[in-house]
Formats: sequence, C-alpha cells, structure tokens
Amino acid sequence: MDKKLQATAHAGLDRPPVGAALIGLGEISEPHIHGLIEAREDVRFVAVCDISAERANAVAQRIGAKAYTDYRDILADPEIEAVDLPLPHHLHFEVASSALEAGKHVLLEKPMAPSIQECEALAALARRKGLTLGVAENTPFVPAYVEAKALLDSGALGTLRSVRTLISGSEVHRLRDTSNWKGRTAGSIGGAIFDAGPHSFFLLNWMFGGIATIRAVTAKLVEEAEVEDNALVNGRLNSGALFSSEFTFTAEIPWGERLEIYGSAGSIVIDHLLNPSFVHYRGGSDISGARGAADPDPKYWKARSIAAGVGGFMAAVRRGLPAPVSPQAGTDAIRAVMAAYESVSKGGLEVKLSTSSKAR
Ligand SMILES: NC(=O)c1ccc[n+]([C@@H]2O[C@H](COP(=O)([O-])OP(=O)(O)OC[C@H]3O[C@@H](n4cnc5c(N)ncnc54)[C@H](O)[C@@H]3O)[C@@H](O)[C@H]2O)c1
Repeated sequence: MDKKLQATAHAGLDRPPVGAALIGLGEISEPHIHGLIEAREDVRFVAVCDISAERANAVAQRIGAKAYTDYRDILADPEIEAVDLPLPHHLHFEVASSALEAGKHVLLEKPMAPSIQECEALAALARRKGLTLGVAENTPFVPAYVEAKALLDSGALGTLRSVRTLISGSEVHRLRDTSNWKGRTAGSIGGAIFDAGPHSFFLLNWMFGGIATIRAVTAKLVEEAEVEDNALVNGRLNSGALFSSEFTFTAEIPWGERLEIYGSAGSIVIDHLLNPSFVHYRGGSDISGARGAADPDPKYWKARSIAAGVGGFMAAVRRGLPAPVSPQAGTDAIRAVMAAYESVSKGGLEVKLSTSSKAR
C-alpha cells in the first residue's frame, strides 16, 4: 500500500462505523446480513428494506434495525451512509444511481448493470459525487481462489496453457415460475451468461490477465423461461492461453463452482463440492497431488465469501479506500457478457474483446 493510502486508511479508523442499509431481502440476502453484522467494527446496521413488508419487518426485528418498504425512504434517511443492493437485475441501475445521487456509497450485486454504458454511467456518477461504488463479486474472497492465484503468481504452475470454469446448479424452480423475475427478460435481462457469467469473467480477468476473444452458444431447456438456462463460452485469454466456461442452471446438484488451471509445470483443480476441494498436481505422474490449505466447505463457501466481500466493502468505505471489487472490474465482466451475447447472435462466431482489467 502506498504512503498516501496508508495514511488515509489509518485516518479512517478515527471515523465512526458506517451507517448501512440492506435493500432486497431475497434468497441471497442472508450472507449480506451476516456480512453487515460481522463487520460491526466498521458498520452500524441501521435499516433493511424490501417491498415485502412481512420480510422487512421480520429481518428488522431479528437484527434490531429499522424496516422500510420503499427504497426512496432509505435514501432520505440521514443515518444511512451506504447501501448494499442484492436486488433483481432490472433494478440495479435505477436504485444504484438514485442512491449515488442521494449521496450514499453503494455496494451493488453482480451483474453490475444491464449494459456497459450503464456500468460506466454509475462509475462516473460515483466519481463525480466522491462516493465509493463497489460490486459484490465474491470471487476474490473465496480462499481457494486466493490460494490458486498466489501459486499461479509465484510461477509454480509454469506457463499457463488453458483454464476451464464451471458454474452449476438448479434455477429450474424459479425459471418455471412465470411470476418470478429470474426467468423473465424484463426482470433478469439475460439468462445464465448474464447471471453467472460475471463470476467467471471476473475470475478470468483477475487471475489470468483478461480475455481476448469469446465464442458462445446457449440453450433454453426450461420451456417457461424467456432467457437461456445453459451456455458454453470459450476463447483465448490475453496471455494466449485458452479458456472455456460453462454455465448451467438446470443441473440438479448443490450450487458449486469448478476451476481447472493447466500450466506447463503443473495444474490446479478446485471443486467446491469435493473433498479435497483443492488439489495441486505437479505433473502427469503426481497421481495424488497436494491438497490446498483452503478448507473444503461445500455448504457455506459461497455464503462466507459473500459476507467477507460485504465486510471488505464497508471497511473500505470507513477508511476512504477504493472498493475491493472496483466499478472497472464490474464493467469489464459485463463487457465479456456482452461479447458472449454478440457471439451467440452471430451463431457462435468469435468476438474480439478489449478488456484492460487485471485489477479488481
Ligand atoms: N454473489 C453471488 O454469488 C450471488 C448469488 C445469488 C444472487 N446474486 C445476485 O443477488 C441479486 C438478488 O438475487 P436473489 O436471488 O436474492 O433475488 P430474490 O428475488 O430472491 O430477492 C430479491 C429481493 O428484492 C426484493 N425487491 C424487489 N423489488 C424491490 C424494490 N423495489 N425495493 C426493495 N426490495 C425489492 C424482493 O421482494 C426480494 O425479496 C441478483 O443481482 C443476483 O444476481 C448474487
């Protein structure tokens, strides 16, 4: 950390904890609640909001916070300095831009916004207002990924040759429910690529130095859905290595992620549903490999990383530091999403990308 940042970080500790509110109390809200509670040194958890009054009241009572049903009332509350937004995709831009206009720091769930232009507009607005905008991308808070990145950066894997990622689980129930935003174009904007793609594309940018070209094909297996529920994406990284990323929302298996990294001096396989979940192979004859230090945790790895990301963002706000996952990194992930959709619209043709981001 440079001297200027170090001084700012230290100065931030004299500030009182950040008054924070959570807007959106759905499926993924629990790890966000935990993140805000666990970061109590940096956060005063002031309020929660959901259009469901029942949900808002129940959570507010449980954690001892105020309950709101209209997010505009949160934005008018002077006690609240920062908002955390795990909301349906079509609300990301509207609520985030209103919050920034109202002078609140914003942590926005992925996918950052429905278009590159909207991502850039949010970043510009945050800069103009002098506020912190971050993306709740949990990938850099997953211990197994941090461990893999350290090994890769140390040169232990040699030259990177190829990378494979998989995100799998079942959204079949929500996709079949025509009243749920998840399967609707108007609510979700896109399907498996828009929803899960930002995780893998962030990972490819953050760990491997960015994506150069993309090709993609999709399928829609759930009849009632308007958006794709499966996608195969592949291409070339800026380093010249190949990648392939698979997203499936129709896999009847606990939600999980798999990452395979193949280098000239060894490989790493991470699979959050397996134990060991992290194995480092030093070559073709290294049959058993070495297990990583990161604890296998098939049930809570995701929730823990989301909670850690929320805490990391609030700590950054309090100290006046940049968000752990920057608007630039969130935008670059959306850039890859859009390139994948462009490829789909061209029947799977290769699309060139110009992501600069190696940063978070
Ligand atoms: N980081 C991850 O790994 C991860 C995992 C799952 C979901 N997500 C993201 O989190 C977000 C939410 O997903 P979810 O599955 O929890 O959705 P959800 O539908 O379960 O929850 C959304 C909540 O927002 C509430 N809501 C809707 N409109 C509102 C409004 N105007 N004001 C206040 N509340 C409103 C709904 O009532 C609901 O409780 C999405 O962006 C999704 O992509 C991220």
